Amino acid sequence: MTNVAVIGSQWGDEGKGKIVDWLSTQADVIVRFQGGHNAGHTLVINNVTYKLKLLPSGIVRSEKISIIGNGVVIDPWALLEEIKTLQNQDIIVSAKNLIIAETANLILPYHKEMDEIREDTAGKRKIGTTRRGIGPAYEDKVGRRAIRLMDLRSETNLDQRLDIVLQHHNAIRKGLSKKTYRKDELKKNLIKIAPEILKYSQPVWKLIDQFKEQKKKILFEGAQGVLLDVDHGTYPFVTSSNTVAANAATGSGCGPDTIGFVLGITKAYTTRVGEGPFPTELIDQDGEKLGKRGNEFGTVTNRKRRCGWFDAVLVKQTIKVAGIKGIALTKLDVLDDFDEIKVCIKYQLDGEEIDYFPAAVEDQKKVKPIYKIFQGWKLKTRGARNIEDLPSKAREYIHAIEDLVASKISSISTSPERDDTILLEDPFNS
Ligand code: IMP
Repeated sequence: MTNVAVIGSQWGDEGKGKIVDWLSTQADVIVRFQGGHNAGHTLVINNVTYKLKLLPSGIVRSEKISIIGNGVVIDPWALLEEIKTLQNQDIIVSAKNLIIAETANLILPYHKEMDEIREDTAGKRKIGTTRRGIGPAYEDKVGRRAIRLMDLRSETNLDQRLDIVLQHHNAIRKGLSKKTYRKDELKKNLIKIAPEILKYSQPVWKLIDQFKEQKKKILFEGAQGVLLDVDHGTYPFVTSSNTVAANAATGSGCGPDTIGFVLGITKAYTTRVGEGPFPTELIDQDGEKLGKRGNEFGTVTNRKRRCGWFDAVLVKQTIKVAGIKGIALTKLDVLDDFDEIKVCIKYQLDGEEIDYFPAAVEDQKKVKPIYKIFQGWKLKTRGARNIEDLPSKAREYIHAIEDLVASKISSISTSPERDDTILLEDPFNS
């Protein structure tokens, strides 16, 4: 028995919510370790749809412990609203099943505004962020001026911390001719909601240590994907946290040996929201068809996702940098109606063939995909629960992906329903 970290192996939106929910039935504890309410996880259980942003997917099962680790950035108002929405859907959220790291950093209104100001003034250089204040909040964290959840425990302490952070933000705001923030008003608003949030706060590292002693099964739930990782992604068109599995340890306060199996959720084609390079992007009818069949709209911002063919070069690379041990292939059924399906196996850059994604954005924009073409299966895979139920051409496609990305496929998802999944290997017992 081992613990499992689930991460996205592409640009996010790989369908992690369903797989995490499916695995969470086996887990005792589910831990979010990075990102914030920029993430959007959709769960469909007994025909009821739950949309989660900040809360771990385990929250829909009250017998599980859900943890928000120190690596997550929390907008307190967004968190309370999400809790309320779930409670209105008859989901139990209490201090017994939700625990938040007291050291988690807060996203405050000036972060969101700064995110918006930057995006609005960046013109063609914009990142296409979710405008939730994620980047500015992480900047304050590494700048050592952030307000952390536990700072809400003492008014005197909060007062001092606000002085430090507002000195920084107000100086920038003055330079941009924006209204400066008044400490008293912000403090009042924070003090007002403090008890509602502090009731969930605990030293998470201690709890995880106890769970390890008790041999509980822990599921670490990543958000976004490796190509959006601040170190390993398509920088600067990335999010501001490390999305790789190694951050599950840092972002929750346990050693790397706590993470046993790393499962990389991988869509059978590729999508991206926001700006940035995307070699296999399809700006044609096939791209439109993928988007339509796959219902490719962002859960958080409702933006239309950019769509393209599967890029084996990228996924092979993310498997290496993130230490992925097996992949869960999702949305295979979206490809059911294509005559031909293409997979990128190499790139051409300045007349040379390369088998990796170059680091410089100029090169990333220039690379031309070299495709291998597969015949489409033109049969229904939707809802299949056994590998034998898949058409032979679909199986060929799956095995080719396995070879091209040099990783085994642990499971295949064939519809948004939790049980429409083909299990080839149990991550908790690998
Ligand atoms: P931020 O995380 O809001 O700063 O946005 C930075 C980049 O990450 C943008 O391209 C976003 O579209 C992308 N992004 C952030 N969260 C997600 C997600 O959950 N799924 C897919 N893309 C995301």
